[in-house]
Amino acid sequence: MCGIVGFAGHSEAAPVLLDGLARLEYRGYDSAGVVVCDGKDLNVVKTKGYVEELSKLTDGGKTLPGTVGIGHTRWATHGQPTDTNAHPHLSFHGSLAVVHNGIIENYAKLREFLIGKGYAFKSETDTEVAANMIDYYYDDDILKAVAEATRRMEGSYALGIVCKDVPDTIIATRKESPLVLGIGDGCNLLASDVAALLRYTRNVIYLEDGEIAEIKADSVQLYSAELERIEKPVSTVDWDVSAAEKGGYEHFMLKEIMEQPDAVRKTISPRLKDGRVVLDGIRLTPEYVKNLHKIYIVACGSSYHVGMVAKYNMEKLVRKPVEVALASEFRYCDPLVDENTLVICISQSGTTADTIAALRQAKKLGARILSIVNVVGSVIAEESDDVLYTWAGPEIAVATTKAYSTQLAVTYLLTLYMAEICGTVTPEKYDWAVRELEALPEKLAKLLDNVDQIQYLASIYFNKEDIFFIGRNIDYALSLEGSLKLKEISYIHSEAYAAGELKHGTISLIEPGRLVISVASYTPLVPKTVSNIVEVKTRGAEILSITTEENAADLAKVSDNMIVIPDAMDLFLPSLAIVPMQLFAYYVSLMRGCSIDKPRNLAKSVTVE
Ligand code: G6P
Repeated sequence: MCGIVGFAGHSEAAPVLLDGLARLEYRGYDSAGVVVCDGKDLNVVKTKGYVEELSKLTDGGKTLPGTVGIGHTRWATHGQPTDTNAHPHLSFHGSLAVVHNGIIENYAKLREFLIGKGYAFKSETDTEVAANMIDYYYDDDILKAVAEATRRMEGSYALGIVCKDVPDTIIATRKESPLVLGIGDGCNLLASDVAALLRYTRNVIYLEDGEIAEIKADSVQLYSAELERIEKPVSTVDWDVSAAEKGGYEHFMLKEIMEQPDAVRKTISPRLKDGRVVLDGIRLTPEYVKNLHKIYIVACGSSYHVGMVAKYNMEKLVRKPVEVALASEFRYCDPLVDENTLVICISQSGTTADTIAALRQAKKLGARILSIVNVVGSVIAEESDDVLYTWAGPEIAVATTKAYSTQLAVTYLLTLYMAEICGTVTPEKYDWAVRELEALPEKLAKLLDNVDQIQYLASIYFNKEDIFFIGRNIDYALSLEGSLKLKEISYIHSEAYAAGELKHGTISLIEPGRLVISVASYTPLVPKTVSNIVEVKTRGAEILSITTEENAADLAKVSDNMIVIPDAMDLFLPSLAIVPMQLFAYYVSLMRGCSIDKPRNLAKSVTVE
């Protein structure tokens, strides 16, 4: 959602801003704009539309001369996606321009206050309110004005500000919305996400809540909210620029699906040492784990689906009650959480607004927070007691694939780790599980050789308008993710049901020709799922089954088509069974001509409630 880029250098800013904005497109947006200081004036160009349109309007940036500027992709919250509501917003007196991510919750009150002081507004946005608040406090010290104005803003924000009177400078600050500074050679940059910086530098400083940065071509000075000078370490990002490019694939989604064996290997291997799971860096003591009363997993979207798989696996192996909650529900349900509860927050981006709010609430209630996050230095990672990073690299396609797989991998490691501490797994089963985990990347690679069959199946089914997914236990958790993947990028209506629930309603929707995808990998429950398949088949449904080699013969009797995945220990089957569903969603969407990497209305990271 919304992206910010800033550049201060000795070369032209506009082309860098356009390139950076293009790299942030995956976050989801509906309008875009840039402002460049030409040493004297602030020249703004913005449009309801994509970065390509912005590039056309500015002739690739040539019509905007100047070496300092900021750019923005906007995902509409306050006000429709229009040219006027697009960022940057100039202040009433035209002396400064602002780009903003997040939501200023008290903007209506501040707007009223400013109107009382003689300000008028062109747009409906909270961002224009921010610009005018800074303008109101601006005398001749822009830093002071930003500090004063933000002190009065409630909600979340990442702000980039340029001011006519200091044409060589960008001011940046944030609260609960990410901002990272890029330290370059002869230039310094600003972005909401490292993907926009990688072409120029891998040296970064993560800005924290309340900190203010003064960015010039040859210097970056950091201040606390009280404007005291502070120093922060420069970190090196080990993703290289190719990690955020398509590398010959037609879509990021396909590239990221194909990267899964490697991403899962990177996530698992360093944490397996001499046949043991070693989770260096987390500080859960054995006593704490043993005495835990409950585990709560909190997340949104696909990360929530990972939580569903983890619940089945953890309860089976660790023998502790595990609740999985959607972060948006958890935060308003007065959750039963205390110091004997471990709250696991799962988030690819580490910036999902509801998950952040849930984390803070759980912390207040005394719970310990362990997060599973992909983006280093993100809010969720920073605010957790313990972090287990997924090493998926940058994920660009909105529909998550490799991040989901690496999150699953981390939950496996954690499950084994806790089961060993609690003594709920036999040494034989533990050793077997470790061997299976080591073999997982190889099995994933083997599965990805099976693309032709899935392409063929997609060609048979891509015209369907309703597709149901059914499964039991971990296969139900997987059905939820398979169905989400399909609907979010193909726009086909799809629902996932626990197979045993069919008779309680959904079966009324089954009619001749309806496609039912049955996920039947979990051997103990395969006979039960087979019975459910027969029920829908009798009513005319077509059946596509996803099952293991071990269960293939049973499923063949009741299925019209089958995808067979390698056998594996049941704990880890979800990693394998999800891959054909990702590929199926991808090829169906390709055949329907959909915008695969940037599906309509969706954003990669949902930074508003
Ligand atoms: C958005 C993304 C999903 C993601 C969800 C949670 O809806 O499109 O792919 O699963 O947010 O995001 P997080 O970054 O917290 O995992």
